[in-house]
Amino acid sequence: MISQQIISVAKAMVADDKGLLAMDESTPTCNKRFEKAGIPQTVESRRAYREMIVTTPGLGKFINGAILYDETIRQSGKDGTPLIKMIIAAGIIPGIKVDAGTKDMPGHPGEKITEGLDGLSVRLREYSKMGACFAKWRAIFAVGDGIPSRDCIKANAHALAGYAVLCQEAGLVPIVEPEVLMDGSHTMEQCGEATEEVLREVFIQLSIQNVALEGMVLKPNMVVPGLTCPVQETVDETADATVRYLLRAVPDSVQGIAFLSGGQSAELASARLNAMNVRFGPQLPWPLAFSFARAIQQPALEIWHGEPANVAAAQHALYHRARCNWAARRGEYSASMEKIRA
Ligand code: 13P
Repeated sequence: MISQQIISVAKAMVADDKGLLAMDESTPTCNKRFEKAGIPQTVESRRAYREMIVTTPGLGKFINGAILYDETIRQSGKDGTPLIKMIIAAGIIPGIKVDAGTKDMPGHPGEKITEGLDGLSVRLREYSKMGACFAKWRAIFAVGDGIPSRDCIKANAHALAGYAVLCQEAGLVPIVEPEVLMDGSHTMEQCGEATEEVLREVFIQLSIQNVALEGMVLKPNMVVPGLTCPVQETVDETADATVRYLLRAVPDSVQGIAFLSGGQSAELASARLNAMNVRFGPQLPWPLAFSFARAIQQPALEIWHGEPANVAAAQHALYHRARCNWAARRGEYSASMEKIRA
């Protein structure tokens, strides 16, 4: 039996038109983004960056939960206050990424398998004691010639479900994140077909492993064409396709859907989420929310640039993106919101 506490947290994660802020980049991923932006790749700059994010004034008006990485959940602000305490004080629920990243899948060129089940229940209990209320595990699927393969889909779905049931046993809400990647020249329909096949298998595995769907949040990709596909559908077309494929594969009892941004521009991610909520919002069985990393953080990261003098401007940019996505949940986002920012 799933506890009422888990269901309440899952509800709170997608409540009030707010969303989730993914700030759980692993150290190598965070370093890559820092390198690209010309920021030193040190423990201290990662700490200062995360402190900048969590001290953004008013962030809790638009963000229900923040997903942290192991390094961050153990770090403190300049004044010694643990970052997790600052998050809770801002009215934001803390969560933690618990997968151990992806590895090449043996015998399956071009495909990846997510690792991290070994010792997971011990880690979940430790994170829970530290204050985390939910967790996240990401599986990725490339689209291409003959891929994603059945083997890759089954293996990753099995691991996602194994992770999810361990989370619920440890009292944490699992965010289940199967991501069909945008890299490549595949069409929007190919993305949709891969997304449907992946989601169907994920929900079969979740059911076999007795995961309570009302105590979880699904974090899928939007259904969009590959980044180098010559045909790029309109915002409304991608909104229609995303909802069409989700309705085919996602059971009604899932507590909420919080999209990843996957490398879309920040503005496009907001516009697509907005279109889905305008066109379908009230008729859908689940709320359509956001759990973006790049589409919330990227403009702020570029402004911050590792300089204490830029903190306020970077926080302003972060606040703005969080507000735009809150508006997109309400179907109130428009391109004019981008103009009045400065
Ligand atoms: P993006 O929104 O940048 O895709 O990141 C979401 C995430 O949590 C990836 O695991």
